[in-house]
Formats: sequence, C-alpha cells, structure tokens
Amino acid sequence: MAQLIPVETFDLVIFGGTGDLAMRKLLPALYHRDRDEQITGDSRIIATSRGSLSRESYLSRVEEALRRNLGEGEFDEAHWQRFAQRVHYVAANALDHEHWEDLVELLGVADQRVRVAYLATAPSLFGPIALGLKSNGLISESSRIVLEKPLGRDLASAREINDAVGACFAEDQVYRIDHYLGKETVQNLLALRFGNSLFEPLWRRSAIDHVQITVAEDLGVGGRVEFYDRVGALRDMVQNHLLQLVCLFAMEPPSSLEQNAVRDEKIKVLRSLKPISAEAVQTSTVRGQYSAGAIGGETVAGYLDELESKESSTETFVALKLEIENWRWSGVPFYLRTGKRLRSKHSEIVVQFQDVPHSIFPEQEFNVRPNLMRIRLQPDEGVQLTIMAKEPGPGGFDLRPVSLDLSFAETFGIRYPDAYERLLMEVLRGNTALFMRRDEVEAAWRWVDGIIDSWATSRQKISSYVAGSWGPADASSLLDRDGRSWKPEN
Ligand code: BG6
Repeated sequence: MAQLIPVETFDLVIFGGTGDLAMRKLLPALYHRDRDEQITGDSRIIATSRGSLSRESYLSRVEEALRRNLGEGEFDEAHWQRFAQRVHYVAANALDHEHWEDLVELLGVADQRVRVAYLATAPSLFGPIALGLKSNGLISESSRIVLEKPLGRDLASAREINDAVGACFAEDQVYRIDHYLGKETVQNLLALRFGNSLFEPLWRRSAIDHVQITVAEDLGVGGRVEFYDRVGALRDMVQNHLLQLVCLFAMEPPSSLEQNAVRDEKIKVLRSLKPISAEAVQTSTVRGQYSAGAIGGETVAGYLDELESKESSTETFVALKLEIENWRWSGVPFYLRTGKRLRSKHSEIVVQFQDVPHSIFPEQEFNVRPNLMRIRLQPDEGVQLTIMAKEPGPGGFDLRPVSLDLSFAETFGIRYPDAYERLLMEVLRGNTALFMRRDEVEAAWRWVDGIIDSWATSRQKISSYVAGSWGPADASSLLDRDGRSWKPEN
C-alpha cells in the first residue's frame, strides 16, 4: 500500500450531514482514513442539517450508517468510540444565515485551522451557503469549499452557481467533485499512459481504429426517480464522468501532476470536441429508457412504473459517437454509452487498434483480428490486451486471439479505497488536481447543451430497452453503420 501521510488538523463542515451522500460515502470514507491514522489531532467533522438533532441522536444515525455501509468486518467498536469524538452536529438552515450562531461558535474556537465546507446539498443551495459562510465571517485563507455534482443542469445554471460561489471563494479554494477522478482505476489511466513508454507511440490516430467507453449499471434509479426524471443519463453521467474519462484518455501528456498541469490538458480536449449538430444528432446519438425485465434472475420494474407515470421523455440510457478535432485524434471515433438497468455493473474503456496493413495468413475462421486493449474500471479492475497467437500444432497456421490479463486486485492484493477517501484527503491537503476547474465544467456543459438543443430541434425519439439487456437495438446500429460493434456485444 502507498505510504499514508497524515493531513493537517482540520474542521470539516458537512452541509447535508443527514443526507444519503454523507451517510453512504463521506462518513465511511472519513472513518477509514481515521482508522489508518491519516486524520490527526483534534480534527472535527461537523455535520449540519436543517432540522435539529441532538449530538447523541446524530451519532446513533452515523453508527447505524457505518455498520450498514462499511465492508464486512470493517466496523470496529473501539475505533468507532474514538471516531465518534470527532463527530459533532449543529443545526444550520442554508437559507437562514442569520441563525448560524451554533456553527459560528463551534468553528470560532479554532479559526486558524484548515476549514472545509462540504456541500452535499442540492446545487440550488451552493450560492446561499457560500454567502452564509462569508456573511458569518467563516471564510479565511485556509478555507475550502467542496461542491458535489450536479453543478447545474446546463451552462447557464452552472455559470450562475460558479459566479455565486466565486463571489465568496477564490477559484483555488473551490473543489468541484467528480468522484470518478478519485477512483483508483481512473487514476491508473495516468499511470498506464505516462508511467510506461510502451503505449505512447500507439496512442494516436495512426495506430488506433476507435475507442469505446462503457459505464453500465445494473441498478435502476430507485429512490432518486423524481430527481432523475429532471436530469437523465446525459446530464447525470456523460457531462461529468464519461467526459472526464475521455479527457484522461485523450489528453496530451502534462508536464507534471501539478494541480493545473493536468487540468490545462483536459480542458484542451473538451474544447476540441466536435459539436453534435441537429443534423448529426439522429445518427450520432441514441436515447433509451428501460422497460420491465430481469437482472440476475430477478424481475425488475420499468422506469415508468418506478416513476408511477404513463410517460416521460427522460433517457436512462445514452450512446453517442464523439469526435475530437485535433491532430492526435482526428478521424478516431469515441463511442460512449451509459445506462441504468443494463445487464451488469461494468465499466471499461476498450481500445481497438488498426488492422494489420496486409495479412500474410490464409483466410480462415480466425483470420488476423485487430488487437484490443481493455482497461477495466469496475468491477475486477485491470488491463487486458488481446493479441493474435498461433494455435499449437504441426499443420497449417491457425490463429487465435489470446489475452494478456492483469487484475489489479490480484496483483496488489489490497482493499481498493473508495473514491471519496482519496478525494477528501486531497481537499484536506489543498490539492485541486483531482477536481474540476470552472472552465472545465463550463466547457463540458457547452458541448452537452449542444446535444440537448439538437435533441429538442430534431425531436429525437426515446428507444425502449428491456432491463437486463445492453440497451436499445439502436445503440448497435450506431456502430453497425461504421462497420463496428460494441464489446461486449449487444
Ligand atoms: C453518480 C450518478 O454521479 O454516479 C449516479 O449520479 C450513478 O446516477 C453513479 O449511479 C455511479 O457511480 P459509480 O461509482 O457507482 O460508478
């Protein structure tokens, strides 16, 4: 395991401290980091919410959430007792700054330390909370603010939020989370590309035929259905997670891992994305919505049943063909797809290399096939390279694709930390490299807004797909048209 460096003493205020994100992700992540002694001194975790709870009743919620959300055998009674000492609760209504006395008092006793406000709330509260922190004198040079996605629902609303937060915090104090950037395997993309000299000469149009990025989920929208219905897969997943994967895959080598070096390269990719016009949108994008089906032997309801509605034009699946207009990638399509209630939880990047220029082998069932590189993001994180090999035997020259397969879990044999563990530590260390800069978020919205506008202009239809499949048939046609197919195949 990499060396764990303790972080400076801090106060971390979680707005939305009783919410799902805090209970399912943030507190378990902090518990793990505390257990590994990265959290030191009398650092405090201060949860706030609109209601008014006693510290005891908040702690019993946290204990219950940790027991439920930590991995098997990870809850330790003795450690919980120590961790609980760090956890405080104060009521603070985001829209009522004048009554934040309890928060002001609690923070006031340690006003020199690193102070982080984590906004695990609806984005409409980001501006008001930033203002509340400012008007209550709670912002100093060592303050930071963390914004959870979604950051708006289009470019205009993202700008509004960024302006409101920017009126209170300097840009280098703002940490916009995309939790994919905290995933070990996503960071491994950097290691793969820039820690090896083997791949760089191949990482370009002259060697790569196309790239596929799949982020498939087997879960439906569950309890978030009302929220989700206003958002859809393009805004929920493509605008952030998938585009970040595209950026890390496609960017030029940064000169270092310094905060802005990587972000400067990512923004260039976002700015090079070819807009998808109203004419192109029908052939370059597919929208889908799941109907009832079965996953892992269990029947599951369709989206409209979950929504308890007869109709909705929200997509729970999107597939699209993206093009990057620069020297490295011109002419190399990137096919992206993501959706809910697909066959399994499965995220990977597949790189298909060019065909050999001329085959010297006789035509037969397994003629030379293009090499594939699969970068598996979840589950079973790893890298697989498919190459052609000769089948053993004295007669003929039969070729077969075989795999060089690396599983990170087997190689390193340790628990993979959750993305939030890494990201929270980066915030506390003051390193913004794994967070989205304002210009990045806005560039991503600009491109996504173009697609949403084109969908509206061309009245793009929604194709139904059965839960438990790989998405609508139209998603296959997207690649068929170019003589290609999804891997794994639809
Ligand atoms: C979130 C989306 O950002 O990412 C969810 O809002 C989605 O809809 C989730 O389920 C997927 O994250 P992960 O880490 O499970 O791939």
